[in-house]
Amino acid sequence: MSNNNNNSKPRAQWASSIGFILAAAGSAVGLGNIWKFPGKAYNGGGSAFIVIYILIVALIGTSVMLAEFAVGRHGQKSPFGAFGKINNGKWAWVGALGLITAVIIVSYYVQVGGWVLKYIVAYLIDSASIYADPKGYFFNVLGVNGMPWEAAVIFPILFIVICIAILFGGVQGGIEKVNKVLIPGLFILLIVLTIRSVTLPGAMEGVKYLLIPDFSKVNGETFLTALGQAFFSLSLGMGIMSTYSSYVSKEENLIKNAGIVCCIDTCVAILAGFMIIPAVFAAGVEPGMGGSFAFVSLAGVFQSMPMGFIFGAMFYCLLLFAAITSAISLMEGPVAYLVEEHNIDRKKAIIGLSIFMFCLGIFYTLSQAFLPVKGVWFDAVNGMTTPGFGDFLEFLTDRLLIPVTAIACCVYVGWAWGPKKAAEELKYGGKEFSLENVWSILVKFVAPAAIILILVCSFATGTTLS
Ligand code: PHE
Repeated sequence: MSNNNNNSKPRAQWASSIGFILAAAGSAVGLGNIWKFPGKAYNGGGSAFIVIYILIVALIGTSVMLAEFAVGRHGQKSPFGAFGKINNGKWAWVGALGLITAVIIVSYYVQVGGWVLKYIVAYLIDSASIYADPKGYFFNVLGVNGMPWEAAVIFPILFIVICIAILFGGVQGGIEKVNKVLIPGLFILLIVLTIRSVTLPGAMEGVKYLLIPDFSKVNGETFLTALGQAFFSLSLGMGIMSTYSSYVSKEENLIKNAGIVCCIDTCVAILAGFMIIPAVFAAGVEPGMGGSFAFVSLAGVFQSMPMGFIFGAMFYCLLLFAAITSAISLMEGPVAYLVEEHNIDRKKAIIGLSIFMFCLGIFYTLSQAFLPVKGVWFDAVNGMTTPGFGDFLEFLTDRLLIPVTAIACCVYVGWAWGPKKAAEELKYGGKEFSLENVWSILVKFVAPAAIILILVCSFATGTTLS
């Protein structure tokens, strides 16, 4: 690379290995775990889906995470610099693609983070209005009746300011410290809410539904959905894990840490299943996933519980914690890039990125109900279509950019850099890597093939698999 990076300061590092693990887990544990996984587990036959998901994470997810970890720590740079480290920077575009993906995702992620903040406040002070008409309330928040100032501007800005404050603190003083508080906090909320859920009258039906596998619900799409979910949930294909691992010292055992991070992420997803599905059974609400499920359908659950508004506020706090730790991870890669490759002051980079993502993201919310802003999309079933701008951003990242970046990352590690050299990085200092041969086959062949399948199928079927 020809960039003359003359930052004389030593590169930031995590203060402890638990700090790195919690930060990576904080990135992985996000809205996807809480409002997508339970619905997918429901559709995919309960534990039948859960078993498939665990196998995919263990085989493919962990392998790709390890590949990203190796690239990041070896490169000691933002994704652009890290992927540009070999072959005279010929592969820097993979990192660039990851950065673009991260910027687009974080633009709408912070908008949804704003909605979550709005709902915490709304449950605390005005749950009656939500209960009276959950759908009408949600659409009103999104702007059917006029400019959605709160959902598109005020609360997203508040959410962004929280992220800015954390990132200003740097890697150790900001990201690491906050994750050390929010991740345990998230676990406590999740456990309290799960206990509340499974002890509701009628909840056992939901527990049984999850525990007894129903393999008749499993088909090809179940596998693809599980694959897509694994990539999104583990924050792969966005250069995030490579950025976070670029702050890891050579003494750390990345192999063990990848296993732990994948385990934490999967445990949270499964627990979220046991929080959501039994509650939904108890309240007689239709199980679902995504924003409309979390903001509309779940109102029925909280309404049916004694002191439901408290549990409602707790649930949105859980979403908030998950969203903050993921959003800061999405911002850190682009910030590191601006600082390292363009010598921009860290604080200026954070503010600049925040302004950009707000300007892009606001159209995500505005296009939901207030403004008819459209994007363009193509798939084999529907042909050329003009989805709302919000959907367009999600299609662009989930169906195209994440898979393409993830494939490129596997090709980079599996073929260009080579699994031998990558494994040397992972084994640095005499760490044991007993599954090295299996891993290199997974990274070279199995993972790219699986991701190509996701890519092709989402264009062939016109559905989002993540
Ligand atoms: N992994 C997060 C989730 O499950 C989402 C995310 C994607 C976070 C990409 C960071 C980067 O919701």
